[in-house]
Amino acid sequence: MKFITALSALAGAAAVNAQMTEDYLDTRTGIKFQTFTHERTGVSFGISLPENPTGTEFIGQLTAPITTGWAGVSFNGGMVNNLLMTAWVHNNEFKHALRISDSYTSAVVYTTPGPVMTPLFTEGAINATHWSFTFLCTNCNEWEIQDGEYTNIVDLASDFGVMGMGVSESELPRSPADAGSSLNKHSSSTQYGVLLGNARSADFEELKMAGLNGAAAPVPSAPSSAVPAANKRRSRR
Ligand code: HEM
Ligand SMILES: *[C@@H]1O[C@H](CO)[C@@H](O)[C@H](O)[C@H]1NC(C)=O
Repeated sequence: MKFITALSALAGAAAVNAQMTEDYLDTRTGIKFQTFTHERTGVSFGISLPENPTGTEFIGQLTAPITTGWAGVSFNGGMVNNLLMTAWVHNNEFKHALRISDSYTSAVVYTTPGPVMTPLFTEGAINATHWSFTFLCTNCNEWEIQDGEYTNIVDLASDFGVMGMGVSESELPRSPADAGSSLNKHSSSTQYGVLLGNARSADFEELKMAGLNGAAAPVPSAPSSAVPAANKRRSRR
């Protein structure tokens, strides 16, 4: 049922080419991802999950040609009212943020307590041809919509999901030194299917700890009172 729903969501997406993630071993980090590669832009996004997903944690990896202006991912397929992440490189450093937008206009930085994005394996992640931003996302599976009306949920424990990608192939953010900079529209965007069932990995914990490079793992703040009671019950299952 979930599978069929997700598939029809995909069929409704603009570019329907049965775009799917594939197995990818990133030799730099040692992490096995389910990775989607966007043909037109050369940007890819991979996801890796614990062997027994609790539903609250994943490792993501956004890799882009060095000429890319900015790139971003929707954790739930569509752009509007879904938790987004954006990243680019400025002065040889990653600028990254979680964002949200209630319309097809610029996305603002997401500020409600809950989701946390922590960079992993940053050493050597930027070279002459590409940057590759790897991060631990904690509690990124549910979020508050800006108007406070409801919270969306991505079921990371299911076998199939839909994610989306937006890429500005050459134009930089307006203030590239600021991770929360306003953005020009992407030159290319798409949705794709994610084989979450194939993203599970026995060495998730070990690689996560290695990737933190000695930095403390984030202590996720529990989604606050802003989260409707119904969703609190749901997330405790
Ligand atoms: C000024 C900023 C932005 C504008 C004006 C904008 C506008 C739009 C529009 C009009 C579409 C519909 C397809 C099209 O006409 O191209 C779209 C799709 C999309 N956008 Fe954005 N966008 C912006 C920023 C972002 C950001 C920061 C992300 C981060 C991930 C993003 C992710 C997506 C995705 C995944 C789609 C495809 C799925 C869908 O249609 O909902 N966008 N965007
Ligand atoms: C540069 O980084 C990309 C992305 O991680 C990687 O695929 C490529 O092999 C790297 N190039 C070199 C010369 O290490």
